Amino acid sequence: MPSAKLEVRSLAMQFSTSGADVAALTPVSFGLSEGSFVSVIGPSGCGKSTLFNIIAGLQPPTGGAVLIDGEDATGTIGRVGYMLQKDLLLPWRTVLDNVVLGMEIKGVSRQRARATALPYLQRYGLGGFEDRYPRELSGGMRQRAALLRTLLLDTDIVLLDEPFGALDAQTRSAMQEWLLQIWADFRKTVVFVTHDVEEAVFLSDEILVMSPRPGRVVDRLTVTLPRPRARSVANSADFISLKERCLAHLGHVTPEMAA
Ligand SMILES: Nc1ncnc2c1ncn2[C@@H]1O[C@H](COP(=O)(O)OP(=O)(O)OP(=O)(O)O)[C@@H](O)[C@H]1O
Ligand SMILES: [Mg+2]
Repeated sequence: MPSAKLEVRSLAMQFSTSGADVAALTPVSFGLSEGSFVSVIGPSGCGKSTLFNIIAGLQPPTGGAVLIDGEDATGTIGRVGYMLQKDLLLPWRTVLDNVVLGMEIKGVSRQRARATALPYLQRYGLGGFEDRYPRELSGGMRQRAALLRTLLLDTDIVLLDEPFGALDAQTRSAMQEWLLQIWADFRKTVVFVTHDVEEAVFLSDEILVMSPRPGRVVDRLTVTLPRPRARSVANSADFISLKERCLAHLGHVTPEMAA
């Protein structure tokens, strides 16, 4: 059997702050196959961002390991692209120079990084805005720039922590379609945190459901809806049943379930 692209093995995290211990993650284990789009859902504070910080190598776990392509990558920075929950564009850099920031940090010259990034900006809805500043962009455009910055890094895996959380419903819906298109082009393994169950079902191949803190994986759903996905997929019986299974885990009762 081929090894998983990303494997999280018995990951545990305990924070000790001013004498009190907070268990953020109890052993969490899963493997993700190459090129898949996997969402992680779970209540606020269950450890989703902590999980990402550990996978990205920014935080050492108190137990367990992270493997990439079957090799131990625990505590190794730079193996995955990571868009933080509150990822901000630098206000004093233009859109183009924000997008190239990650590449520059990895040692690519600004000139080369700009030449690499420019066609992507044009292709993915930021053409003509290269020399603008973040304050001149809509919320959706700012998120496109932040996502492109993450996707243009030379990593096979990207972690996206609630990238659309602050957007209005209409912009969010457009961004979901944009992300699916770019994911199909880039062929990366995406791990995506969201609070929005419909978003998780619409985007994903699989959904990992986490329990309240201390977080562990309580369910793993496979989404077999056809791709490319159209909005109308949300009316299908499969979509609705996946959504209800997720909502039930999160403690919501829909009218259909109560009936
Ligand atoms: N550096 C830290 N020190 C102490 N406790 C922490 C630290 N980071 C996170 N925690 C605690 O660990 C738990 C998990 O936090 P985390 O931010 O990972 O949750 P989350 O699932 O991302 O929440 P949200 O959905 O609100 O973003 C929370 O109780 C949080 O207070
Ligand atoms: Mg979080």
